[in-house]
Amino acid sequence: MPELTGGFRYLELGTGQGFGLCALAAVYPQGEFIGVDFNPEHIAHARGLAEAAGLTNIRFEEADFSVLAEDWPADFGAFDYAVMHGIYSWVPEPIRAALVALLNRALQPGGLVYVSYNTLPGWTSAIPLQHMLRRLQVASSVSGEQIIQQGAALFDNLVQAGAGVAQAMPPLKARLDSLKTQSSAYLVQEYLHENWHPLWFSQVHDELAAAKLSYVGSATLPENYLPGLLAKEQAEVVNGAEGYVMRQELIDLMLNQSFRRDLYCRGPRLQRRSMAQLGAFSVVAGRPLDETEVCRISTSFGHLTIDFTLAQAIYAAVLDQPRTLDHVASLAPMTEKPVHELIQVVTMLLHAGYLALAHSAAARVEALNDVVSQQVIDEFVPYTCLVGAHTPTALGASDTDMAFYRIVRQAPLQNSKQLAAALVDSLRASGRNLVKSGKVLSVPDEAFEHAQTLSEKFLGQTLPLWQRLGVMPPP
Ligand SMILES: C[S@@+](CC[C@H](N)C(=O)[O-])C[C@H]1O[C@@H](n2cnc3c(N)ncnc32)[C@H](O)[C@@H]1O
Repeated sequence: MPELTGGFRYLELGTGQGFGLCALAAVYPQGEFIGVDFNPEHIAHARGLAEAAGLTNIRFEEADFSVLAEDWPADFGAFDYAVMHGIYSWVPEPIRAALVALLNRALQPGGLVYVSYNTLPGWTSAIPLQHMLRRLQVASSVSGEQIIQQGAALFDNLVQAGAGVAQAMPPLKARLDSLKTQSSAYLVQEYLHENWHPLWFSQVHDELAAAKLSYVGSATLPENYLPGLLAKEQAEVVNGAEGYVMRQELIDLMLNQSFRRDLYCRGPRLQRRSMAQLGAFSVVAGRPLDETEVCRISTSFGHLTIDFTLAQAIYAAVLDQPRTLDHVASLAPMTEKPVHELIQVVTMLLHAGYLALAHSAAARVEALNDVVSQQVIDEFVPYTCLVGAHTPTALGASDTDMAFYRIVRQAPLQNSKQLAAALVDSLRASGRNLVKSGKVLSVPDEAFEHAQTLSEKFLGQTLPLWQRLGVMPPP
């Protein structure tokens, strides 16, 4: 993996509105970031955000992948990282070929690629649904949301009429149910995409090989422990197969995998890092550790049970400040555990957000957090994350969190009553009401009471987390 301590160059293909790239640029001032997208509205938005956040190590360029593949601009240079999130299985085959040609030009030897994609076999049961939703859309001029409703009604009728497809594909029923609960924005983006092509692992693997890319592992951390964490008889089937491509596909069949986040490297397959190399990584405590939750960490292959005493000891060791894994491993009771077991527990805690990767670069996140929270509250821009100076992982933040951020930035020392009053005022000023269990709290006393509950939780949990991770300066 290219080292992050010195300078590095990072390319995002299909950067959208640019928040993710701006977050990284703020956290890694030593990196140089370029985001590419062919949608001029996205590029204008992304440039505006970068400028408002005072970021000087980032640029956004409006360009089509197919044009870049033909004519790679000399001033783009070569990259250590290239990222394609939500792109590869949503573009037609010629654009996938263009992306591969482009990566072949863009990536340094040893450079790392991240690619996420809808995966087979997990989407198999959605194919009839997606096909018919698209047919309805092509034949009509109503909104995407209405198409989803029409399609759901059509498939309800099919299922009730005993359609053979529903009998041959029982999970179709669950897909149909999810049409009624998932957000319409997501459903429109997912199902009504004209280039919706779930892919097998081997397809992506073989296509990327043309850019001399070798599979490294999964960015979904627990999946790197497969097949070892599958049931014994499942692991035996996977391990009995020849070659890692076949084994990955058997894992996908075992999990009925529907989404992969894969890492590839330009050059020969990387060896797994040893503790001697991993030991220098620092981690810091993340969200509060809660016994009932931590014992069951949710993964794509079910819930994992973690040794809670060990998890607590690791968490306590990094609660006050980031520590290297070497340091954590040198403390009791971690010294009693084999190193591979310790790394596995740390990995699962990172995955669940109880730990966060830490770093000590001179990040400058205040301006970005200020502009993001201001735009959410005043302009209803739908950002959902804030950025911590001490971790590369953005932190999910609700609209209420954004309001708290602004209040505390303006007046840091607040008790829960003051904070609750400021929250109600701040939301009211932007025409919002607090909502509790779906009920709009328009009566002032009810709103204040709920605001106080939220404030206590914020002061007790969220603010300490933000201070630890550098979203806010420490008190
Ligand atoms: C689903 S969005 C993903 C955005 C972002 N990566 C994210 O995860 O939030 C796909 C993006 O790819 C861009 N895109 C699609 N085809 C493209 C092409 N041929 N050239 C450049 N950008 C393209 C779209 O404009 C869109 O912003």
